[in-house]
Amino acid sequence: MTHYFLDDPTLADDYRDFMYYYGETSFVFTSNSGVFSHGGVDEATNLLIKNIPPLRGSLLDLGCGYGAIGIVLAKMFALTLTQSDVNPRALRLAEKNCAQNNVAATVLLSDCFANIGGKFDAITLNPPIHAGKSVVYALFEGAKAHLNAGGRFYVVMLEKHGAKTAAKKLTELFGNCGILCRKKGVFVFEMLAG
Ligand SMILES: C[S@@+](CC[C@H](N)C(=O)[O-])C[C@H]1O[C@@H](n2cnc3c(N)ncnc32)[C@H](O)[C@@H]1O
Repeated sequence: MTHYFLDDPTLADDYRDFMYYYGETSFVFTSNSGVFSHGGVDEATNLLIKNIPPLRGSLLDLGCGYGAIGIVLAKMFALTLTQSDVNPRALRLAEKNCAQNNVAATVLLSDCFANIGGKFDAITLNPPIHAGKSVVYALFEGAKAHLNAGGRFYVVMLEKHGAKTAAKKLTELFGNCGILCRKKGVFVFEMLAG
């Protein structure tokens, strides 16, 4: 079975274009087979995007997939964007989606934070649950280490995927974990870095 976080060169392409709206601003995204939420922006991803308050400075879209979160937020709030993922197939789409939505970004192939230097004012994550708890927790820990003082980490998680356990882990790491949204079993968390 092919997982969306593995690059499978034997997988046949199935490119799909679709629109996404943030208020009156429209975006066009291209997705492909073998990436998360092929064919449309995932509902949890949408809740994350729509519940994040206005941001400033630099944003890391961690585990960016085809890039929706970072591209929308960078365009709406004029952010300096970095996008990273472990799957090269997803990154090729993120680059294409940046270009077709006129958003500039640094796009990095990275297993968790292995190739990510520096610190950011905000980091977003819809975690790769199927990659396992150790990967998800490594992403949480790396986020803490890569935030500027006063920086914010935004995570969306489903209750059925362990959102409440994740909230405990995030509270241990950051000393805080606010709930920005709770809807139909989906939580959007906000953590403030000290
Ligand atoms: C749930 S998807 C979210 C994708 C995208 N952010 C979205 O919301 O549409 C999680 C992403 O994490 C990536 N991922 C999985 N393991 C990773 C790792 N070890 N390091 C970085 N990214 C990883 C996957 O390839 C996938 O694109």
